[in-house]
Amino acid sequence: MRRFLVTGGCGFIGSNFIRRCLHADPDLSIVNLDLLTYAGNPENLADLDTHPRYRFVRGDIADPAQVRAAAGRDTPDALLNFAAESHVDRSLADAAPFVRTNILGTQVLLDFAKERGIPRYLQVSTDEVYGSLGPTGAFTETTPLAPTSPYAASKAGADLLVLAFGKSFGLPVIITRASNNYGPYQFPEKLIPLMISNAIEDRPLPVYGDGLHVRDWLHVDDHADGILAALERGRPGEVYNIGGGNELPNLTVVRSLLAAVGKPESLIRFVTDRPAHDRRYALDASKARRELGWAPEVAFAEGLSRTVAWYRDHHEWWARVKSGAYREYYARQYGAALASETGACPT
Ligand code: NAD
Ligand code: TYD
Repeated sequence: MRRFLVTGGCGFIGSNFIRRCLHADPDLSIVNLDLLTYAGNPENLADLDTHPRYRFVRGDIADPAQVRAAAGRDTPDALLNFAAESHVDRSLADAAPFVRTNILGTQVLLDFAKERGIPRYLQVSTDEVYGSLGPTGAFTETTPLAPTSPYAASKAGADLLVLAFGKSFGLPVIITRASNNYGPYQFPEKLIPLMISNAIEDRPLPVYGDGLHVRDWLHVDDHADGILAALERGRPGEVYNIGGGNELPNLTVVRSLLAAVGKPESLIRFVTDRPAHDRRYALDASKARRELGWAPEVAFAEGLSRTVAWYRDHHEWWARVKSGAYREYYARQYGAALASETGACPT
């Protein structure tokens, strides 16, 4: 039986990864260590509550004793670190939790992997570490790191630590850097679930700046497959870009979502831009294709329509998530901006 220690598995990508892997591999068991921050939701894996090969442990990756306790006595075959503070806007409001979890937490996990001689350490990272692109070109794994937001800077710092542990101590580390993910169970602070849920509720859709910032969209199932491919076939010490190959301006995505939900474009509101808003991300994922035999399989139109259907069918899930503390965040993040919007959508 292969044993994975997964961190951050109650979040969006981690929960999709765990479900997919456990169903695909009957010889795999997973321990999920998650602090259950605002973004961690045990409901995301409620269907695995009584699964014999799955165990959830609540705990903090930045606390060495809690990491050791979660792993127990047996050394895992792999440690996969999904745990993070993951939202750019929150990092602009307060960088402290990003440095603590994303950098300090990664260092604690690396020390633990070194202490226990874990045969594989996989760091789930992001294309945002590369900074922003002009209108052409794509990030490769050798593009210099040039993060702009505190979120991206904390992920870049973690990536450098991971690579340093590989070089200094021979720890068998691998980094995957993915583009923007979408799919079920994504917290509705990120663009796609925020816009779908607002549209369903006939609320305004806040688009930052001119809406022409470009993101490269990747379905979360394709990301999960890319991570597994890197874990199994990647070379230690290497970085692999996992890109969706679906570059689209935000406004195009928002318009497609409105069409899918059946709501008018008059719901769009242009609001003050995010500071230092990266203009364009695009990933060259040819190394992952070549070395891992991985390629994204979910066409964007199909993935988006499945995602819209999922949010329609899981109204209770996101209505609960959007109540409570989320309301305060929403008021802080969008209250003033929506009151002084820079214009409604041109028709
Ligand atoms: P998420 O915010 O949905 O989930 C993060 C999870 O980490 C939550 O369950 C949270 O409770 C947990 N967590 C936070 N701090 C913790 C701590 N100190 N100890 C233990 N658990 C903690 O994030 P996500 O979108 O699922 O992203 C997962 C990973 O993928 C992150 O490392 C992120 O940087 C990376 N990534 C995300 C995207 C994207 O589009 N969402 C793209 C590329 C890479
Ligand atoms: P987001 O989902 O926050 O991901 P990231 O910033 O990590 O790429 O945002 C995706 C894009 O959507 C980004 O260009 C910012 C933009 N955006 C809006 O225009 N309005 C919003 O309310 C949000 C959350 C994002």
